[in-house]
Amino acid sequence: MERVHNNKKYFIETYGCQMNEEDSEKLASFLKGMGYIKAEDINSADVILFNTCCVREHAELKVYGNVGRLKKLKEKRPEIIIAICGCMMQQEGIPQAIKKKFPFVDIIFGTHNIHRFPELLQNALQSNSTIIEVWDKEEEIIEGIESERESDIKAFVTIMYGCNNFCSYCIVPYTRGRERSRKPEAIIEEIKQLASKGYKEITLLGQNVNSYGKDIEGMSFAKLLRMVNEIEGIERIRFMTSHPKDLTDDVIEAIRDCEKLCEHIHLPVQSGSTKILKKMNRNYTKEKYLELVDKIKSNIKDVSITTDIIVGFPGETEEDFNETLDLVSKVEYDSAFTFIYSKRKGTPAAEYDDQIPDDVKHDRFNRLVELVNNICERKNMEYKDKIVEVLVEGPSKTDKSKITGRTRNGKLVHFTAIDESDLKGKLVNVKITQPQNFILLGEYINTIR
Ligand code: SAH
Ligand code: SF4
Ligand code: F3S
Repeated sequence: MERVHNNKKYFIETYGCQMNEEDSEKLASFLKGMGYIKAEDINSADVILFNTCCVREHAELKVYGNVGRLKKLKEKRPEIIIAICGCMMQQEGIPQAIKKKFPFVDIIFGTHNIHRFPELLQNALQSNSTIIEVWDKEEEIIEGIESERESDIKAFVTIMYGCNNFCSYCIVPYTRGRERSRKPEAIIEEIKQLASKGYKEITLLGQNVNSYGKDIEGMSFAKLLRMVNEIEGIERIRFMTSHPKDLTDDVIEAIRDCEKLCEHIHLPVQSGSTKILKKMNRNYTKEKYLELVDKIKSNIKDVSITTDIIVGFPGETEEDFNETLDLVSKVEYDSAFTFIYSKRKGTPAAEYDDQIPDDVKHDRFNRLVELVNNICERKNMEYKDKIVEVLVEGPSKTDKSKITGRTRNGKLVHFTAIDESDLKGKLVNVKITQPQNFILLGEYINTIR
């Protein structure tokens, strides 16, 4: 690509999940290819890009607020380019509404055409009106787009795009299209490249990684995991997200057998009530979920299980909510992302007439968070005086005197060492001296490799 914008700067603000983060890394790579460098802050940027999420209303409101604030900046420096992309733009009527509300926005595009960004940017540099280009359907996967990654130790690698599950509360199938698996060769090649650049940890990404390969003859997610496990140089492999209805025995066996596959499964349950699960279109019961958890725990030593839970789904009674609390107590999650149900226009659940009042939702949410935190704290306390293997990521952002990394099962560790300079990217043993709610504090013991 022609380098025409030397010394100009870009700033990308990313909302939402790892899918968006990965897209932002690709968009950053395009900008870098065009000669842009990363800006320290939004005010010094020449190109400002908002990569949006619409999974909950809160995420959308944040975007509106932050884009609105750019009006003054654009008045002061009319030459800057403001672009908005991501899931929010895939919703009917939103691009037009943004254009109307924020006429100073230069480019609007969607999740299916991020590869078009360089051309749209060139066009915008020569035009004064808002360019809107949103594709309403996914096309074939485009390979070969580089990523400008945030970390040089850990990398996300998308293995499949889209979702076919249509959980009745969820907007994602509408913003990301149907499931498409990347070819295994393309995935393996990308990971080999990452290994040769010194990356140590790979997280395989998809809305439902367990359905990877259903559209490729002879492939399955478990097979892919075993293939990735063979790649030299990579130390750890993680993946997310697993849908409980599709997590098969061969995947559990692969985690048990493959030394690089980390002992952590993110297994969103959403609710503990079989009645609500049915209304959510999740396709499993409370009992089936608990059976699956038992199977995971009995096959994988020291496994951590994390989850997503929604409270206040339409029709959720106090009894249903108690089923959720009961399930949480039984599974003893290592951590859980808890959400208050948010009505998403265009999804079936938004039309249900048994919506739950806000105060009830908030009350249940607080009770759930308290239980989740208590369990999480109790589980962390079990780490006192234990020695854990940590992949070192570098100095902690919150406390510069400490080094940070994670255990194989995903626990965040902050530790002290005499000379931290050459530990980045290394696997080290750390003795946990002070477990806390969300962090394990410890001391460096020795370097494994
Ligand atoms: N594909 C993943 C994650 C999807 S979005 C999965 O299937 O689990 C991440 C989480 O956001 C979901 O797991 C769910 O807990 C939450 N979420 C999705 N839609 C929501 C809504 N309308 N209101 C509240 N939470 C929602
Ligand atoms: Fe949404 Fe369900 Fe698909 Fe996850 S599996 S992205 S919650 S529709
Ligand atoms: Fe949000 Fe889109 Fe991810 S709606 S959660 S950014 S797939």
